[in-house]
Amino acid sequence: MEKSKGTQPRAQWASSLGFILATAGSAVGLGNIWKFPGKAYEGGGAAFIIVYILIVAFLGMSIMLAEFAVGRRGQKNPAAAFEKIGHGRGGWIGKLSLITAFIILSYYSQVGGWVLKYIEGYLMESGTIYADPTGYFLGMLGSSGMPWQSAVIYPVIFLAMVVFTIIRGVEEGIERMSKILMPGLFLLLIVLTVRAVTLPGAAEGLSYLLRPDWSKLSFQMVLVALGQAFYSLSLGMAIITTYGSYVSRRENLVKHTAIICSLDTVVAIMAAFMVIPAVFAMGVQPGMGGSFAFISLAEVFRQMPMGNLFGAAFYLLLFLAALTSAISLLEGPVAYFVETFGCDRKKVTCCFGIALFALGIFYTLSQAYLPLKGIWFDGANGLIFPPFGDFMEFLTDRLMVPVGALALCLFVGWRWGASEASREIEHNGRFPLRAIWIAMVKFIAPLSIVVILIGGLVFGLA
Ligand code: PFF
Repeated sequence: MEKSKGTQPRAQWASSLGFILATAGSAVGLGNIWKFPGKAYEGGGAAFIIVYILIVAFLGMSIMLAEFAVGRRGQKNPAAAFEKIGHGRGGWIGKLSLITAFIILSYYSQVGGWVLKYIEGYLMESGTIYADPTGYFLGMLGSSGMPWQSAVIYPVIFLAMVVFTIIRGVEEGIERMSKILMPGLFLLLIVLTVRAVTLPGAAEGLSYLLRPDWSKLSFQMVLVALGQAFYSLSLGMAIITTYGSYVSRRENLVKHTAIICSLDTVVAIMAAFMVIPAVFAMGVQPGMGGSFAFISLAEVFRQMPMGNLFGAAFYLLLFLAALTSAISLLEGPVAYFVETFGCDRKKVTCCFGIALFALGIFYTLSQAYLPLKGIWFDGANGLIFPPFGDFMEFLTDRLMVPVGALALCLFVGWRWGASEASREIEHNGRFPLRAIWIAMVKFIAPLSIVVILIGGLVFGLA
């Protein structure tokens, strides 16, 4: 089935389940498990969760459907799909999104490497982590204490897994991998959540999450929820478009989109119920910084009976989530090169692996090594996130993703035409809530994205 060059048939998902698990695999990632719990905590528990669900149900689902529609109608990589539907115009939207995916993957794979190191760390040397969580984290990044090799080797192993999966193709690689990894992820998440909510002292965290604190409802909180929903659903990066191009015309896009968005949201909420009660029970400050998952959680596992095993299981969960998301981020750029320039899939994937590593390693090293050399380290405040990482995240999350998503909505809503696009979405002639979808794609989604863009750029929100 796997073939995409010239006139040969395009790769397709072998089954609906494979398609759902692969796309859910893209959506469920570090964003759900690492970022969502802290945001839910800061956003007033259930108040944030309710706002988030509403955003996913209306905006998130609408944009995901629009992306799927472009992919399935185009039957090509994102750049070519936009160009084909836009009669020669709009290819830049796909290209921009692919560049965004490449940049995000360069640092996503570094964090994937850190997670791998922590699985080993909790199994082999949990005492060292507990003794000095910050030192262990910085050491892993190459500053001191630990051999610098771990800063390089683990991201390489992570990237190698991504490259290996992509080389094997859509059905044999991505789909098969998702069918193995995703059930494992759900199982682990259930076990860890049950453990967390039954810890002595977890009730306080549970009631914090369940009681909506509406005093936290603000413009900023809604912006944070919007940004989180886009990131979590993998929108604005042409990934959903790419995966949509492998979907057969028989599949019901509305139903599948609803399932994928629900799965992603359920995982995020469960992750909040896993992290927040445990953090409350152990008296740890549920901080939000990027180092939270690596530094603050050490205290939780230290106090927990068999904490090192639960620690290893937690990082395994993060690893599974990160791997399937990283795989999706690489498929789009690879498909583009294979289809546009006739490149060999294997060679182009390996080249991407090397380029991603070369760019990403600056991210890891800039977290600790360079700062400690006195370049970006603020002695008074301890660990600060340095310019390189900040710059990359700013560029992608605040600028490129919203611009890509805005362009997508305007393209589908106005250039392609929402009613024409809705014909791609309908199944057996039916498309429930078609009118609402059209209003969303033409007016409400573009407006909301403009607000995110301005909020993110001017006010530094989201
Ligand atoms: N959705 C992933 C997460 O929540 O971590 C991140 C991501 C993957 C974003 C793939 C975008 C993407 F195309």
